[in-house]
Amino acid sequence: MAKTSMVFRCATCGATTPRWVGRCPGCGEWDGMTEVDRRRGGGAERARRAPLSLVPPAIPGAERVPEASIVPSGVGELDRVLSGGFAPGSVTLLGGEPGIGKSTLVLQALAGLARAGRSSLLITSEESEAQVRVRAERVGAAVPGFEVLATTSLPEALAAVDDAGPSVLALDSVHTVADPSVTGAPGSVSQVQACAVELTAFAKEHDMATVLVGHVTKDGSLAGPRALEHIVDTVLAFEGDRHEALRTLRVLKHRFGPTGDVGLLAMGPDGLVDVADASGLFLRDRCEGTAGSVVVPIVEGLRPLLVEVQALVAPSQGGPPRRSVQGLDSGRVAMLIAVLDRAADTEVGRRDVYANVAGGLRVREPGVDLGVTLALLGATLDRPLDPRLAVVGEVGLAGEVRQVTQPERRLAEAARVGFTWAIAPRGTPDVEGIAVHRAADVGQAASAAGLSRVG
Ligand code: TYD
Ligand code: MG
Repeated sequence: MAKTSMVFRCATCGATTPRWVGRCPGCGEWDGMTEVDRRRGGGAERARRAPLSLVPPAIPGAERVPEASIVPSGVGELDRVLSGGFAPGSVTLLGGEPGIGKSTLVLQALAGLARAGRSSLLITSEESEAQVRVRAERVGAAVPGFEVLATTSLPEALAAVDDAGPSVLALDSVHTVADPSVTGAPGSVSQVQACAVELTAFAKEHDMATVLVGHVTKDGSLAGPRALEHIVDTVLAFEGDRHEALRTLRVLKHRFGPTGDVGLLAMGPDGLVDVADASGLFLRDRCEGTAGSVVVPIVEGLRPLLVEVQALVAPSQGGPPRRSVQGLDSGRVAMLIAVLDRAADTEVGRRDVYANVAGGLRVREPGVDLGVTLALLGATLDRPLDPRLAVVGEVGLAGEVRQVTQPERRLAEAARVGFTWAIAPRGTPDVEGIAVHRAADVGQAASAAGLSRVG
């Protein structure tokens, strides 16, 4: 494939574009673009790419899907959030904390695309070829048509892409490659942007689906990659607790379909696997009949699933009471403690409180409020709830139980998993297979659950 190596480079940030533009797409500076040869006179050494599989490549032409269509990667949950798979020429940013499984996901996705007849190239700037190969063998990703190149030099990576002309490219990671002609250390905003802009231009020019892996800091912000969100087509956030198997894949931006959906995967000994029955997974280890445990039907993205909220309330050992919250918003839990203390005359606010969502999921939607409140109350009174009861509702500052989105889907999922009755906000419609007990406020919900203070 003959490709031009002339590009226009920004004097400020080093971003390049295939055509001259007045304003740099990387940093927004005007009139700084000058024409340069991205191979710098063809001087960039040709790096050796290695096939991941030692098996000879499949006969070209066999079982090829039309080039113009979206190609599924075969990782079901990834394809789900991407509305089917990867579009040719699209650029996807995959962000996540170190150790969460980004490299594994990219490896499995590229292997799937190679199996579907799309030649795939992985540029790794964090691991050696040997490390990638070991992992590829472990997760079954060493397939024909999938090559790997280890380099930290962007010009070398681009030259390899130019040579190989892959249908799919992944760069792992955009934080650890650098273009020597751009100022700044690898991982600096100028380097990260320059790399993303150059690869994006390349991807568009050659209809090559591209995945950029990016690091996210502990506080959850796409630190460097924030600067990339406007350059790429799709932004995916890969999240989870490293000590739990569950991973969530959220779509923060998507040019080719809806955002907001969530993919669920589990990290196992042989890589990532799709989580088919999420409710079953979350409730698997539930200890029925324990005080402080409440099952809540939530909606994650477009899918309903059941989670177990757990609370433990203990006497404080003096000093300010301890608060330990996992998988829930701690500010929200503090507010629910205050609402509960006023509504039920408990003194939870003065005690140590531990609250979490079993299974490692982070729940961000208010539909979990009533479940958290009843878990706190049940823990305080040391009274377990009926194991066939599911609880859903948002709680307001006055203790009122407010409507949630998609009540029917939540209750239908609860019924499917075997729950026979639910406490839900007023106005919740009847749903087949489950009895709905409607509560206007926390007090009514507590008595329906058998958690009235007297009795
Ligand atoms: P990795 O994909 O390297 O994460 P990232 O690229 O986001 O830093 O995977 C991180 C962890 O996943 C690693 O510590 C080991 C674990 N792991 C498994 O449990 N099973 C597997 O099959 C693989 C490949 C990794
Ligand atoms: Mg990695």
